[in-house]
Amino acid sequence: MKILVTGGLGFIGSHTVVELQNKGFEVVIIDDLSNSSQEVLGRITSITGKEPVFEKMDLREKGKVTDFFKRHQDVQGVIHFAASKAVGESVDMPLHYYENNINTLVYILQELTQKEKVGFIFSSSCTVYGQADTMPITEDAPVKPAESPYGNTKQIGEEIIRDTCKVTSGLNAISLRYFNPMGAHPSAAIGELPIGVPQNLVPFITQTGVGLREQLSVFGDDYPTSDGTCIRDYIHVVDLAKAHVVALERLLEGKNKENYEVFNVGTGTGSTVLEVIKSFEKVSGKKLNYKIVDRRAGDITTAYADTTRANNILGWKAESTLDEAMKSAWDWELKVRNK
Ligand code: UD1
Repeated sequence: MKILVTGGLGFIGSHTVVELQNKGFEVVIIDDLSNSSQEVLGRITSITGKEPVFEKMDLREKGKVTDFFKRHQDVQGVIHFAASKAVGESVDMPLHYYENNINTLVYILQELTQKEKVGFIFSSSCTVYGQADTMPITEDAPVKPAESPYGNTKQIGEEIIRDTCKVTSGLNAISLRYFNPMGAHPSAAIGELPIGVPQNLVPFITQTGVGLREQLSVFGDDYPTSDGTCIRDYIHVVDLAKAHVVALERLLEGKNKENYEVFNVGTGTGSTVLEVIKSFEKVSGKKLNYKIVDRRAGDITTAYADTTRANNILGWKAESTLDEAMKSAWDWELKVRNK
């Protein structure tokens, strides 16, 4: 069965391609290489023994999207990762975010509505909940006004898919709302490779540990949490990748109850920033150089998932602990830096 994975050379995309191939799916990747490298193709192949088909393409070019689906009429499922994802950058370049995250989604859906039957998985984010009023966060928690154009593209994206599914019986879609992905494949052949200074906590920690950054700034220790630092739900990227495969199989096997569904993908456990640092120190045996600084604008205090829906309906559960995910992130950092 042929599956298109857009953004398939990126962090979550590449791990998902591996899990799809492990399950026997035939994968075609579209990626514009704006935040990834073609080298990843060989790395995926080194894990699975099968080279996925790769087409370098900018999905903003509508004609090329149409042409792709003409050439690959046997595509039965699409997992759509390709998008820009830096919150701060989205504030400075809103139109780039709307064009890159929304136009491309519309172009793909326009092609999919021509098909008799197709499954579609969308990369959404727990950012749609903002600071939720109760923890853990269920899928029924209200969607709060977006804090950034990036967050808005995820909210609008979900609405576009829901509205399209309402009038397209052959289109079956699932939005997966990710919590905080981290870690790398156990082979250390693929992982997270942020361009420039990492904005996210875990790559900043591992880069500091390896000596690439001098010091981690911990953004605030005066939040109303056990140790004063923010709480997030950190999920191993391999667990997250597997959630995509399970969700896709649900659609392809026609097991979905509605033709548009939403699932949280997290572990259900919250960890503070200091707990994440402790986990790093434990698995690496290194002391991390960090200091407490002011809060970061726009940060929420606490976010962790209620995973009941994904556990019961998808039959999926995150398996890795924070330490296991951290160990894989550290192994990957060491490998990338030839340490
Ligand atoms: C961020 C985005 C979110 C996006 C996600 C994608 C913001 C406000 N949110 O989530 O919309 O979906 O990335 O990956 O940008 N921290 C530090 N020092 C650092 C970096 C982070 O203390 O150098 C802290 C943060 O304050 C936060 C936690 O670590 O409490 C996690 O931060 P991060 O990895 O940036 O993820 P989110 O903010 O949860």
